[in-house]
Amino acid sequence: MTTPGQHPTIFPEVTAIPAAYRQERIDQRCYLIDGELRSWDGPCQEVLSPICVATAAGPQRVNLGSFPLLGEKEALAALAAAVKAYDQGRGVWPTLPVSGRIAAVAAFAAAMRGRRDEVVRLLMWEIAKSRGDAEKEFDRTVAYIDDTIAALKELDHASSRFVRADGVVGQIRRAPLGVALCLGPFNYPLNETFTTLIPALIMGNTVVFKPPRPGTLLFGPLIKAMRDTFPAGVVNAIYGSGRATIPPLMSSGAIDVFAFIGTSRAANTLQKLHPRPHRLRLVLGLEAKNPAIVLADADLDLAVSECLAGALGFNGQRCTALKIVFVERPLAEAFVPRLAAVVAALRCGLPWDAGVAITPLPEEEKPAYLEELLADALALGATVVNPGGGVADGSLVTPALVYPVRAGMRLYSEEQFGPVIPVVPFDDPALPLDYVAASPYGQQASLFGRDPARLATFLDPLVHQVCRVNLNGQCQRGPDVFPFTGRKDSAVGTLSVADALRSFSIRTMVAAKETPANREILQRMLRERQSTFLSTDFLF
Ligand code: G3H
Repeated sequence: MTTPGQHPTIFPEVTAIPAAYRQERIDQRCYLIDGELRSWDGPCQEVLSPICVATAAGPQRVNLGSFPLLGEKEALAALAAAVKAYDQGRGVWPTLPVSGRIAAVAAFAAAMRGRRDEVVRLLMWEIAKSRGDAEKEFDRTVAYIDDTIAALKELDHASSRFVRADGVVGQIRRAPLGVALCLGPFNYPLNETFTTLIPALIMGNTVVFKPPRPGTLLFGPLIKAMRDTFPAGVVNAIYGSGRATIPPLMSSGAIDVFAFIGTSRAANTLQKLHPRPHRLRLVLGLEAKNPAIVLADADLDLAVSECLAGALGFNGQRCTALKIVFVERPLAEAFVPRLAAVVAALRCGLPWDAGVAITPLPEEEKPAYLEELLADALALGATVVNPGGGVADGSLVTPALVYPVRAGMRLYSEEQFGPVIPVVPFDDPALPLDYVAASPYGQQASLFGRDPARLATFLDPLVHQVCRVNLNGQCQRGPDVFPFTGRKDSAVGTLSVADALRSFSIRTMVAAKETPANREILQRMLRERQSTFLSTDFLF
């Protein structure tokens, strides 16, 4: 199959799509506000898949359907519902005992499990995630919910005792903050939306969320489950353009937590709109340009396979992806051709193809952007080492290993977020360390080598620049019990199963001088279960 006048295309004729993976058009018209699925008859956004079909005019993106383009009015109605449900902390949800909130979240997780096939298929169609990765994203998200429930029980156990100091006795718990606005990214539309939304909810906040674009249709089956499992107004889902819906929410001053995974530029603009910035808790996951530093004594096979997985997992579209590789000169001669060979062997194809590694890119402008980055590097003396690398076929770009990259090339500093691996040879160990120190980002780094003493000379300065150094391994967020955060323009706040519960709550206590009268009051309150906050019950 060939694109007219060009190279072969991976995209099939529409009739050649396997029956098991065909996707019916979805015209989503409902959004969730105040416990109701409201129907929309206003303007809608057509959804074009990154997956193309071959036509006489070349590859054309498949039209998957449409979703509502809500505006300011609907966004503010969603906010009003969340504000009403929170009711200044007196609403049903924030005053529900922890066990009640856990039961609702567990019921939602159970309902969600039943929608696995639909959601996985939509992940494949909306963002071209391979079937295996889409299944992983779904299963990891459900596991995250289960683990969050377990972590909240732990937290509750730790807070169910009284503390006594200097004649004062008190109980310290974590209380919700208010209304949370949760916005996830297109690359992990389900997982990264839910890793803020679920902790926000389970801690007693009410939520407005907007699914990412692309990655919207897959929330259709889930908002019905949300309506059925949470009290009215506790979770509200809006659709549409971020520009039309998010600024009015932030300007209202009624958002208490802004959980956003995206660019620091957008985060800066949006957080500035809040009229009372000190009342706004920020939970941000932003850009990164995580480096791998491969020392001369590194295990070559291991470094190659980890750099490959780290740089090209989901086409390099992970915030944690390795986006630049520094290799010490004596090893570069062996490392570069080895890495190029495995890059060249990767299978480019469609999400349902067995063994596929590289799939089409959801961002429409990405192939042209990557082409610009490659042209710039090539003009400045680098080459694409793997034959056929960096070639666009509609929305698909074949992976490219670019070498030697150096300061001054755009690939050296820009976050490509795509299937391109810039490799920089170095002689002076200060080069990669200075790079990391000067970088506007500070999420993670990978360090490959065998000599502990030498590794320590890199590791120690790196831990003051990034928040996780991966020794002889790729950068990654998981396991989800580990803290996921970053310095500089990479993050604000920490997420992990347990840390997220803290990010969406505040330590609050009830304290009293330990007089006989106060002791009697507290004992009766506990014995007769008169307060939800003050309780020494053990949550099983
Ligand atoms: O895009 C950022 C994700 O949180 C990365 O997660 O390292 O598990 O792919 P991951």
